[in-house]
Amino acid sequence: MKPKQKGNGRKAALKERTTVGQRPAFRPAVSQDKEVAQLKDSFANHLKYSLAKDEYSATRLDCYTSVALTIRDRLIRQWIETQQAYYKKDVKRVYYLSLEFLIGRTLGNSLINLGLLDSTHRAVHDLGYRMEDIREMEFDAGLGNGGLGRLAACFMDSLATLQIPAYGYGIRYEYGIFFQKIIDGYQVETADNWLRYGNPWEIERPEFLYIVRFYGRVEQHHDEHGSLRHQWVDTRDVAAVAFDTPIPGFRNNTVNTMRLWSAKSTREFDLEYFNHGDYERAVSDKAQTETISKVLYPNDNVFEGKELRLKQEYFFVSATIQDIIRRYKKTQTASSPHPFAAFPDKVAIHLNDTHPAIGISELMRIFLDIEGIGWDDAWDLTVRTFGYTNHTILPEALEKWPVTLFERVLPRHMQIIFEINRRFLDQINVRFPNDVDRLRRMSVIEEGYEKRVRMANLSIIGSHSVNGVSALHSDILKAGLFRDFYEIWPERFSNKTNGITQRRWLMLCNPGLAGLITDRIGEAWTTDLYALRKLRQYAKDPVFRDDWREVKHRNKRRLAGYIAEKIRVRVDPDSLFDCHVKRMHEYKRQLLNVLHVVSLYNRIKADPSADVVPRTVIFAGKAAPGYHTAKLIIKLINSIADVVNSDPYIKDLLKVVFISNYSVSMAAKIIPAADLSEQISTAGTEASGTGNMKFALNGALTVGTLDGANIEIMDEVGEENIFIFGHTAAEIESLRQQGYDPGKYYGENPDLRLALDMIAGGYFCRTHPELFRPVVDSLLRHDPYMVLADFAPYVACQEKVGVTYKDKDLWTRKSILNVANMGFFSADRTVKEYADGIWGVKSLPITFSDGK
Ligand code: IMP
Repeated sequence: MKPKQKGNGRKAALKERTTVGQRPAFRPAVSQDKEVAQLKDSFANHLKYSLAKDEYSATRLDCYTSVALTIRDRLIRQWIETQQAYYKKDVKRVYYLSLEFLIGRTLGNSLINLGLLDSTHRAVHDLGYRMEDIREMEFDAGLGNGGLGRLAACFMDSLATLQIPAYGYGIRYEYGIFFQKIIDGYQVETADNWLRYGNPWEIERPEFLYIVRFYGRVEQHHDEHGSLRHQWVDTRDVAAVAFDTPIPGFRNNTVNTMRLWSAKSTREFDLEYFNHGDYERAVSDKAQTETISKVLYPNDNVFEGKELRLKQEYFFVSATIQDIIRRYKKTQTASSPHPFAAFPDKVAIHLNDTHPAIGISELMRIFLDIEGIGWDDAWDLTVRTFGYTNHTILPEALEKWPVTLFERVLPRHMQIIFEINRRFLDQINVRFPNDVDRLRRMSVIEEGYEKRVRMANLSIIGSHSVNGVSALHSDILKAGLFRDFYEIWPERFSNKTNGITQRRWLMLCNPGLAGLITDRIGEAWTTDLYALRKLRQYAKDPVFRDDWREVKHRNKRRLAGYIAEKIRVRVDPDSLFDCHVKRMHEYKRQLLNVLHVVSLYNRIKADPSADVVPRTVIFAGKAAPGYHTAKLIIKLINSIADVVNSDPYIKDLLKVVFISNYSVSMAAKIIPAADLSEQISTAGTEASGTGNMKFALNGALTVGTLDGANIEIMDEVGEENIFIFGHTAAEIESLRQQGYDPGKYYGENPDLRLALDMIAGGYFCRTHPELFRPVVDSLLRHDPYMVLADFAPYVACQEKVGVTYKDKDLWTRKSILNVANMGFFSADRTVKEYADGIWGVKSLPITFSDGK
């Protein structure tokens, strides 16, 4: 037994912890006192000289902005040195093209990467502010929908930490993902005007302004050598202006660049109308032009074939490739055999899904029409430059642009794509003569009433590498969606299982747990997540388990406080926090969880002394504004919450809450407090998932299907430390082949029947009893995601969860072992695999040119 006082002292030490880590080794030693004094000076200077405020007029926002500018100052020298080093060493660079970067907040991340968290805490405290309040002032950069955008953000952190010469390129949306409010149980969207008070992290670069062209027509002529040349003329032009955000590595001097483009109308364009005296038209056209970068499309895993979206895609790809070529040309010497021969040796362009795939035709257009390179050379260079990651096999998510729209907006690109396709199909025809079906499947152009451009096919044909994002997903691509392509080019295909950055998703979001871990095993895990393996030996240590539980409990108390304040529901921090937080989508099966909640409710109602473990079921997630079913499911969850939370028979045995406006910063509040992570998509539908990794890294146990990266999580943590249930991807497929009948499950399972009948019959919405009937009708008629087939196994598995949770020591042991076995899921590992296996880029350590 440990002496009581010592135990309390230990807990007190845990409690006070707000930061982890020691002084970084990469900066010259300055005493912390001196550092704090410098920070305070710089902070006061920014308040006065950048914001023109004094102690009488400064708001908390001003304070945040001054702190942010102070920290940004400390990135600048390293940023410039890094960029100069890339030129001096003439390195190969990788360009990560993504329509989404879900960065979230930057201040905390910059502080830990610079090793300035402790000093800044002290400086802010000395000035009379609380760091938590200052950090809460920052708007999330919500420039993404979910997994794909957050992956891009994690990759940016890992690329800089691995010191890889890399750039993120995307769009600086004026409005990111909408804000979600819950009013009367319904989702209500409001605009995310995140730039309203300025963004201290970005620097506008008006000198990097490129013209992007749309519409017009193509003229042909023969040049002096008799070769056919094409000119894209009579275009409508938009300017792209660069905004740069520094991306620091973890305590290593590297600062990479994320360059986001903003649309500006071109002066020439305006003048045309001004000259004709049409002032109003000039102004309204200017506004129209600038809508290109106005708003992020709020769809996750759904393709919406809007003209503006196509223009967004081309807008950012065109500006990016012009920028890449400018940079490439600067480094080329006259001795090269032809100016672009070395292009793929110096440039890797990565397509984060098909959204930037127009880049393949754009690079071809530049090589052919502007640089005068012949087709075969241009094509060879292009294919060697591009890599493509597929993120989904859901048919409704695959981009297929109507040919009529495509050729109106981008006539020259359409011609080039037709020609790429013609040459490709000729090859296929040689290899598989008269196999018309195969040609039809592999063609970039989908035939039919409306011809469409299949961006996935274009991406595969135009890239030297194609990868999926989990082992299962990559296998499904090879065996299913991309089977024909795998057959001809097996060497192009690989798997790169997604990962997350442990700096944000443990160190920053869970300082209590991070500190406890570092105290035991040191801080090597911050850059080598496999170092967490050393925790395995402590899983049996009762003192360590005690501390572990205490950290989790404190995180739960904090979240309970937030829920009490914001949602006015009192939840018990001793209950099992069962968390289902992610985008609202039928394939993610929030409905399966809902059915379990209703069946638990019925069980407790039937026997209030039933031996069930007290649970708090926490939902959060946004539904696409046009996705009616997903929005109705949000209303259903809130309606069930109202009934359950106010039912006196239920007491504290079950609570249901829906936390509004799920975002990166909300995830950072919820995930450290979770006991149970719901990862229950229909097997074969979730490409990878990364929320699953974030929860497990923070000590939650997973209840999940054998889908996406859940399978690899199971492989790493061991079957005994995860709750797996339900049909496998192969079983789902064979159910479908046999003719799936959801009614059978309804007929056979009285608990399921009761839950569905209650929802359909208005039990949870007395004022509008028919409201949820469509949800149940859809499940009973089609149930495309086979919720009913997995209901019984899910309930049985949740029963096991409850029994295990009652054994605190056993649960804590499993929790520790989950964290200890998460090494594989660092984005550092993922990015290293891309760098070595796809991009062929190497790390470049940054040392300061003045040697200091
Ligand atoms: P960019 O990569 O051309 O956009 O330039 C980014 C930064 O790299 C510049 O602001 C300079 O600090 C640095 N840089 C640009 N050109 C050179 C060069 O020729 N030699 C060394 N550094 C350069």
